[in-house]
Amino acid sequence: MEPTVFGKLKDGRTAHLFTLRNGKGMEVQITDFGGIITKLIVPDKGGKPVDVTLGFDALADYEANPPYFGAIIGRCANRIGGGRFVLDGREYQLDCNEGGINHLHGGITGFGKKLWKSEQTAENSLVLTLLSPDGDQGYPGNLLVSVTYTLTEDNVLSIRYRGMSDQRTLMNLTNHAYFNLAGQDADTVYDHWLRIEADEFCEIAEGFSMTGKMRSVEGTPLDFRKPRQIGQDIDSGYDQMVLAGGYDHNYALKGTAAAWCESTGIAMTVSTDLPGVQLYTGNFLGGDLKLKGGRRCTRRRGFCLETQLFPDAINQPAFQSPVLEPGVPAESETRFAFTVGKPDWMK
Ligand code: GLA
Repeated sequence: MEPTVFGKLKDGRTAHLFTLRNGKGMEVQITDFGGIITKLIVPDKGGKPVDVTLGFDALADYEANPPYFGAIIGRCANRIGGGRFVLDGREYQLDCNEGGINHLHGGITGFGKKLWKSEQTAENSLVLTLLSPDGDQGYPGNLLVSVTYTLTEDNVLSIRYRGMSDQRTLMNLTNHAYFNLAGQDADTVYDHWLRIEADEFCEIAEGFSMTGKMRSVEGTPLDFRKPRQIGQDIDSGYDQMVLAGGYDHNYALKGTAAAWCESTGIAMTVSTDLPGVQLYTGNFLGGDLKLKGGRRCTRRRGFCLETQLFPDAINQPAFQSPVLEPGVPAESETRFAFTVGKPDWMK
């Protein structure tokens, strides 16, 4: 279970690739750079292996990685309004790396841009650890984080996040994998069916700022309680969709979030102990990004289901707090379960 060398980072350090396998033909490739999932192979309805996650071939592209393909996101996933927060009477100003307006996904050199310590403990399990020093990206406290990826025999990719700090700080970890269950050649995810067990989502305002209010999905294109194809209402005139340029919203999860692609038959069910999930449909994808095999990146080529605490929770009293107490470990788990064939929730 020795890793292979992925390449050299700009600073000269070496990044590696690890492969997790199970006996069912599933395979997950992960690099210790950013804990990025670079490949996720699932056999389709005919038994043919399909890579269902978007990514690049070259390490250098992951060093830039504007869409955060496959990366671990920390210390805080999603946005912190104005990059500002107050903790124990002290005001903190983080980088506003999203258009100068918000702190996004942990800042310029967030967890998806760090080289992690790694140990592949079994053919199906990889443990990554990182010490984020006091002041890293502007956050207080030395934070020790570990992320364990495990691929089970029942085709579940489990991601277990743990963190402990020596001072009060914030933590809200996720993984930013983009999925296209039709494989690498499909230009969009419009034909995918989604079902999200959520009655409410976090209302957004201009520039993805949080109003702190929840909105009902009832009667809106954000209602996935009954399955709906991603493309059906993605360009709807509903104010929340116009503001985001498609789906880019955090749901209050009551159960699971699931997707199904009829052409390959592959279905994915996401379950978590976290309260929220951001559905993002790759509205900002495109441009000149060169994907695996030299493919050109198209808009809405992948979707993300990023499990997390609600966005900007530190500034929104109604949301569950992202504050981590010193010496108290926090833990969460998200599971991506893959099956083949029309799922029960479609029937
Ligand atoms: C998240 C955000 C999106 C976008 C992507 C990365 O999902 O919600 O608005 O920033 O990350 O491109």
